[in-house]
Amino acid sequence: MEPIILGIESSCDDTSAAVIRGRVMASNVIASQQVHKDFGGVVPELASRAHELNIVPVVSEALSKAGVKASELSAIAFTRGPGLLGSLLVGTSFAKAFSLSLDVPLVEVNHLQGHVLASFIREEGKEVHEPSFPYLCLLVSGGNSQIVRVNGPLSFEILGQTIDDAVGEAFDKCSKMMGLGYPGGPVIDALAAKGDPSRFTFAKPHIPGLDYSFSGVKTSLLYFVRDALKEDPDFMEHNKEDICASFQKTLIDILMDKLIKAAKQTGIREIAIGGGVSANSGLRARIEAEGRKRGWHTYLPPLRFTTDNAAMIAVAGYFHFLAGSRAPLDTAPLARC
Ligand code: KG4
Repeated sequence: MEPIILGIESSCDDTSAAVIRGRVMASNVIASQQVHKDFGGVVPELASRAHELNIVPVVSEALSKAGVKASELSAIAFTRGPGLLGSLLVGTSFAKAFSLSLDVPLVEVNHLQGHVLASFIREEGKEVHEPSFPYLCLLVSGGNSQIVRVNGPLSFEILGQTIDDAVGEAFDKCSKMMGLGYPGGPVIDALAAKGDPSRFTFAKPHIPGLDYSFSGVKTSLLYFVRDALKEDPDFMEHNKEDICASFQKTLIDILMDKLIKAAKQTGIREIAIGGGVSANSGLRARIEAEGRKRGWHTYLPPLRFTTDNAAMIAVAGYFHFLAGSRAPLDTAPLARC
């Protein structure tokens, strides 16, 4: 019989619980926290408090939507890290207590590996479209920008990563700088869709190998906006679509240059993406276009699995569970791992 796994995710500002049977998703409940909007970023203390309020109702809803009794669970998988320590503590403590009370195994999951394995979430009635090993995953979120070579469901090799800001951070900080709101990625994405990506140019980094850097392009935008506003105080208002389109294109160019290089160097043509920024419509279109041109097989997770969700934690947990890995009850969350 296929194992039934409860996944729990609480690494940042989404409290999520999901149930999978085998790898087929039976439920995936996400409580997103609105409390941070007024602060222009996630406030760690408020995030922990909201997780504390959300965790029990979210898990109950995930079980009832899946039509699964707690006693039927084969294992509980939880995000151990990386993330905000106070947030992780809520999910970790709940998972430990629940596994102890039910006497079922506890399985720890690395949040980033969850994003990288998001393509393996299966959905009832939907065609299976999963990468074969080895594949490359462009992992792009608010805290990470990496190219990962995935040799197997439990075997990961980081080929390149950012040496400063993550690409999601560049979206968020630049949106804030332009007064466009938080989180910046979706706002810039929507404005960019209406703008001309070739109107403005921003500095691109020259970093050797497969590593990334996004702090320079952020500074380039900062100086550009500052200088333009000196000449015309309404410049932002009249040009925000073109600025966003040009800025987004620059970030996508930077991401794609290294991804193409990695694909050439490794000879791998199975290409997946994951993480919050993989929801970006420009990036998704570009990966598909490059895929057609270069004979890649591309795997873009549905939008609901790009941002933080427990279904990806449950699926990663499934692979760990089958491999026999178990987390002891003294497992502590890790802000960095
Ligand atoms: O993976 P995620 O939900 O959280 C972690 O960082 O772990 O990613 C959040 C990031 C934020 O920086 C947000 O601005 C970005 O994903 N994001 C996007 C889009 N949707 C979310 N960035 C660009 N375009 C989007 N459509």
